[in-house]
Amino acid sequence: MRVVTIPRFGGPDVLAMAERPDPVPQRGEVRVRIRATAVNRADLLQRMGAYPAPADAPPDVPGLELAGDVDAVGPGVDRLAIGDRVFGLVGGGAYAEAICTHERALAKIPAGLSWEEAAAIPEAYVTAHDALVTQAKLTGGESVLISAVGSGVGTAAVQIVRALGGLSVGTARTADKLPRAQELGLDHGIVAAGGTFADAVKQVVPGGVHVVLELVGGSYLAEDLRCVRTRGRIALVGLMAGVRTELDLGLILRGRVTIIGTVLRARPLEEKLAAMRAFEDQVVPLIARGALKPVVDRVFSLDEASAAHAYVAGNTGFGKVVLKV
Ligand SMILES: NC(=O)c1ccc[n+]([C@@H]2O[C@H](COP(=O)([O-])OP(=O)(O)OC[C@H]3O[C@@H](n4cnc5c(N)ncnc54)[C@H](OP(=O)(O)O)[C@@H]3O)[C@@H](O)[C@H]2O)c1
Repeated sequence: MRVVTIPRFGGPDVLAMAERPDPVPQRGEVRVRIRATAVNRADLLQRMGAYPAPADAPPDVPGLELAGDVDAVGPGVDRLAIGDRVFGLVGGGAYAEAICTHERALAKIPAGLSWEEAAAIPEAYVTAHDALVTQAKLTGGESVLISAVGSGVGTAAVQIVRALGGLSVGTARTADKLPRAQELGLDHGIVAAGGTFADAVKQVVPGGVHVVLELVGGSYLAEDLRCVRTRGRIALVGLMAGVRTELDLGLILRGRVTIIGTVLRARPLEEKLAAMRAFEDQVVPLIARGALKPVVDRVFSLDEASAAHAYVAGNTGFGKVVLKV
């Protein structure tokens, strides 16, 4: 099979095509003929040498999500069969023509979705649903602040909040992404000029928001604390603006704020499978009904992975960047 490899760490141009033997499914695993995968920030970091793959993933083939059809099953597989159209998350190795993974790490793709649309779903929706609903316990009618609302995870989060009947406020650094987010159901868009947005959030939600989905990190967390309501919850999911910042601890203490750090990739298999089951039970039916939609920004071919990485790093996209295999 053909794969995209990281032969050495560096810029987008280091990515190279290579041949690898077809993997053979072990007990409980299926082999998926990958039709499309998608680019994630973690792939860019891995390529730069800043985010090593976990032990259960190939060290030099990026790719955290996939859509494809099952073409071989290992012993003990009972949920899936050859020919099933599936999508899901893996710890790495999805920039490839095939992959073996546990059958419970996959869900069946609802009818009517193309491979490219299906590949744009798992990482964005599992991350947003797990952080908002499973961890931050978001309930219907609550208000949510979503930073980088035009990101893959952000565009999924807006739609999940709308589906739950909540109120969403989203930030972007430029105004152009906000009308597109409003088409997905965003209630209030804020341009986070110079990284400030707390006062603008308090203008539209005077008591402060119940929940923050923090996808940017860095100094955004200090702003979050200024506009989250008493007993609010902040799910810290991304660190694009940096891993260090200065916080007013009094705001956490007096506001009795809960800050939840979360990462999907590094979790043990059982926890990843639990997140996948919650996605399958609570999100996939809404996708099937059309209440939640994938947001595909651009599609590149697997051979164009370097160009796709450079495009994502440019921050101009809205939604997901897909690689057609
Ligand atoms: N914890 C987990 O398990 C997990 C899983 C998936 C993703 N994530 C994280 O979630 C975040 C979103 O991921 P994604 O794949 O959805 O992102 P994405 O689609 O690549 O979009 C990222 C957007 O963030 C904004 N941005 C980039 N750098 C920024 C900075 N320094 N300061 C402020 N805004 C910045 C840009 O939008 P604007 O220019 O419009 O502001 C950019 O378009 C990333 O941090 C990613 O690492 C975490």
